[in-house]
Amino acid sequence: MKPLNEIKIGIASDHAGFELKQYLLSFLKDKGCTVTDFGTNSTASCDYPDFAHPLANAIEKNECDFGIAICGTGNGISITLNKHQSIRAALCWDTPLAELARQHNDANILSLPARFISAEKAVEMVEAFFSTDFEGGRHQARVDKIALK
Ligand code: RB5
Repeated sequence: MKPLNEIKIGIASDHAGFELKQYLLSFLKDKGCTVTDFGTNSTASCDYPDFAHPLANAIEKNECDFGIAICGTGNGISITLNKHQSIRAALCWDTPLAELARQHNDANILSLPARFISAEKAVEMVEAFFSTDFEGGRHQARVDKIALK
């Protein structure tokens, strides 16, 4: 992986993930990263697909390299993102999962369950995810079989 501040990162959440999104945005900006924020922009109730699809589209158009997606459970936003053929969004709640999502699955979006993790754990997972390379090899053959023809 490139250094964190050279990776084009997109971030999106619904209202349940808004506060964690703002926390991670501030962490990433302090590290010198360029981050595109796809919303939401407040804690007002909203629908996660409205923010998930723009993030996925930006990755598919190579406007962002990787993403971070957050909702209350992480499930709704992950389910939406994974409708996109080239998106591999991995729902993670602990650091080894974030590392394995990169090593084994070549995940391009880290999905986080805001209502079930601390902000400190989220930062630890972000650091792990964005510093771990895909292992390729046998995992490449499996990843190649994911997309529908
Ligand atoms: C919002 O209340 C909640 O349903 C949403 O953030 C997410 O957990 C859905 O999967």
